[in-house]
Amino acid sequence: MSTNIVWHEQALTKQDQRAKNKHHSAVFWFTGLSGSGKSTVANAAAKRLHDLGVNTYVLDGDNIRHGLNKDLGFSDEDRKENIRRIGEVAKLFVDSGQIVFTAFISPFQEDRETVRQLLEKDEFIEVFVSCPLEECEARDPKGLYQKARAGQIPEFTGISSPYEAPAAPELVLETNLYSVDECVDQLIDFMKRKQWV
Ligand code: PPS
Repeated sequence: MSTNIVWHEQALTKQDQRAKNKHHSAVFWFTGLSGSGKSTVANAAAKRLHDLGVNTYVLDGDNIRHGLNKDLGFSDEDRKENIRRIGEVAKLFVDSGQIVFTAFISPFQEDRETVRQLLEKDEFIEVFVSCPLEECEARDPKGLYQKARAGQIPEFTGISSPYEAPAAPELVLETNLYSVDECVDQLIDFMKRKQWV
């Protein structure tokens, strides 16, 4: 922990940013197995909302691990640190008045709860991107399940590393039952019920 640092209040508050953008800001925290459709649905939702005039941004596991988190692997500790950092980044996006979508496996309930605690009520929306392991494995868009089964990827989620499904997510998107567009409809319906769009 650093010492001799003092918090500096920003001239523009979160409320100022929201007033300018004319919409709420929050993080939609997508969690689910590899291949469940997190990035696909998050990007489709961001695009649809963008077209409606909503300021959105997507933070994606594969991409963030190319830069900010390229020093992290897939041990339980590294995944925890991955999620901790992304939680802090997501909070900055919420402060800037945007709707942020995060697409990380985020396999541990405790780590997701830690991020929830960073944010205020109605700023953290846990979205369970639900898809059975067998279906994710059949999709295997990057060929990773095949490698994991062959023992070429250690600690692979769902195969040799755990995934804890959310106990009480705000939203469940069942990508094995609904199309990407239908999942986006469900997400936007959720926002409409909250009067965020
Ligand atoms: S985590 O668990 O939240 O820290 O993972 P995340 O940052 O979302 O990164 C997941 C993507 O990394 C690729 N990959 C792996 N996933 C799971 N386990 C292991 N061992 C692994 N190695 C590489 C994989 O492409 C994941 O992307 P998605 O989009 O989830 O398929």
